[in-house]
Amino acid sequence: MTQRPQWPLGHHDRLGFGADYNPEQWPREVWDEDIRLMREAGVTIVSVGIFSWAHLEPAEEQWDFAWLDEVMDRLHAAGIAVDLATATASPPPWLTAKHPEILPVNERGETLWPGGRQHWRPTSPIFRTYALRLVEKLATRYATHPALAAWHISNELGCHNAYDYSEDAAAAFRAWLQARYGTLDELNAAWGTAFWSQRYSDWSQILPPRLAATFPNPTQQLDFKRFSSDALREYLRAERDVLRTHTPHVPVTTNFMVMLGNPWPMDYAAAASDVDFVANDHYLRPGPQARDELSFSANLTAGIAGNRPWFLMEHSTSAVNWQPINTPKLPGELARDSLTHLAHGADAICFFQWRQSKAGAEKYHSAMVPQAGEDSDIFRSVVALGATLRTLAPVVGTRRERARVAILVDLDSWRAVQADSHPSDRVRYAQEALDWYTALLDLGIGADAVPVAALFDGRATLDGYALVVAPILHLVDARTRDALISYVDGGGHLVATYLSGIVTEHDHFWPGDFPGALRDLLGVRVQEFAPLRDGESVTLESAFGPLTGTLWTDKLDVIDADVLARYASGWLAGRAAVTRRAHGTGTATYVSTRLGPAGLRPVLTELCGRAGVVSPLPAAARGRVELVVRSGPSGRFLFLINRGDEEVAIEDLAAVAGGPVEIIDAPALAGSSDGASGLRLGPRGVAVARQPTTVSS
Ligand code: GLA
Repeated sequence: MTQRPQWPLGHHDRLGFGADYNPEQWPREVWDEDIRLMREAGVTIVSVGIFSWAHLEPAEEQWDFAWLDEVMDRLHAAGIAVDLATATASPPPWLTAKHPEILPVNERGETLWPGGRQHWRPTSPIFRTYALRLVEKLATRYATHPALAAWHISNELGCHNAYDYSEDAAAAFRAWLQARYGTLDELNAAWGTAFWSQRYSDWSQILPPRLAATFPNPTQQLDFKRFSSDALREYLRAERDVLRTHTPHVPVTTNFMVMLGNPWPMDYAAAASDVDFVANDHYLRPGPQARDELSFSANLTAGIAGNRPWFLMEHSTSAVNWQPINTPKLPGELARDSLTHLAHGADAICFFQWRQSKAGAEKYHSAMVPQAGEDSDIFRSVVALGATLRTLAPVVGTRRERARVAILVDLDSWRAVQADSHPSDRVRYAQEALDWYTALLDLGIGADAVPVAALFDGRATLDGYALVVAPILHLVDARTRDALISYVDGGGHLVATYLSGIVTEHDHFWPGDFPGALRDLLGVRVQEFAPLRDGESVTLESAFGPLTGTLWTDKLDVIDADVLARYASGWLAGRAAVTRRAHGTGTATYVSTRLGPAGLRPVLTELCGRAGVVSPLPAAARGRVELVVRSGPSGRFLFLINRGDEEVAIEDLAAVAGGPVEIIDAPALAGSSDGASGLRLGPRGVAVARQPTTVSS
């Protein structure tokens, strides 16, 4: 097998810095200014052509590459590399006018109109023919262009068109099901079609879960999500294979959307194997945990990438345009957000977009060059960040050091638990995972976000983690159950929450009492689920002090476990709420209600104490600073990230690092030296300290 190129060509000795660049929106005079400002900012790489199909092929088989040739040449002359898009994300009007049958269809059977973007069916053979023709044209034309550093397939695959219910999708879904199940009997068993007279007697009867009289079959819904992800991946590989045929030397990527909102349209943990390097887009979700969510997503992206360096393809310099209220970032946040991604293993920091559009749906979206122009705090912050990334070049290629705590993330659990017809539609898988991450950061402890899928292909292992958190690990297959049992058998400490272990990979209950797959390991049985209403809460009496539960409770029987907390109010008063079973030399703790970050802190304090996990930070900095360490042959780099708006002093940084450190000085870094080994970390600031790697003899 030939070795694939792993990283944008020419980017092995510097951190990437840049943006989506859309010169087709601007006259040539502006291009001149763009290049001047890019040089001033220290831009090293831009993504070009993402939405330019209508400019490259203005009418069928009429090609216009002259403008792109010129853009590529100008960028190259300025020393700026190009992550060249395949331009297939948004089909031009002539194509949808000629072939309206490429347009996606929603669950009601309504065809979506063109006029926005990404209005194409992932399974449309017609769309694919036109798209791959364009990809081939670009690949052959630019194969040897010296600016070409990487290929950027489509854009955020599935962002707007993940779930298509068209006839094309129906045919592809049936083929996918035939490959998965082989026979109708297997499918009928997996989908539990004995229920509601849903038994299929011919493959042609099977449809996507279109709008039905009431809840469509849950396994059909779950399989449709899996299928839709696979359809996007199949499309991704079709473009990739064209590119690899013509430019085997050029690495290929596409921008994922690893964020904690809704279940992802594409299984990124799986799709990482389809690309040469992982790239991600991240946008903040407003709220009290916004910064922590960014950190968690960056952390998880590293987990998806198997802790290889990854590429932050997009984030924003300031406000976006697509939330109900779009507030700007506060001073320091542009740098802090960027450097948090860097801390978690990004070797390139890019934005959407280079220059703020003057027309179109995203004209209110921030950019590296805002409407206010270069005389603006945003552009000054961009320039400062560019200079800082140059100073931080030795970080390139280092890897994030492993934490002692892992938080498991499982897309199928996320999909299944948030499906319809469950005990509560208020359950938010990602929020529960984030709460544990926040609570750990509050204690000054970092955790690795680990995709469950990565445990089975060599990207990750539970070995070596002192504590493993399984938030709402709802869908558990036999191998995952076995991995958790052997982790605890081997002396590990596992903590699982409410709704874990309930269903199999087919979304059927595990046999016997809840929590099914984890019942024996946890030593408890759930007689009944008892979700709480909005605004309702219960108090708990515990060894950790009083706690408050919301969202969920279980009517729990203890079979073989110690009770660490009991419900003290409500109809379950007196019954167990938090339990622990010793198993081999390890322990398995169960938390049956939502405690939120404040309630999880005392639970985690006790658990971390038991597991021997200690914060490396001094007491005064715990909770206020996130510490992430990258290391490699060029040294250990300690990223100290101020989570809050107040200055934080760390008196003895050498004690944190376990040896002498040098605080790196650069314009976007907020750390200043305070005494011999002291650090003052400004509001929302990030400091980076370097420690030479000791070479053991
Ligand atoms: C996504 C897209 C970009 C742009 C930004 C706006 O990330 O990939 O094209 O629309 O959102 O935030």
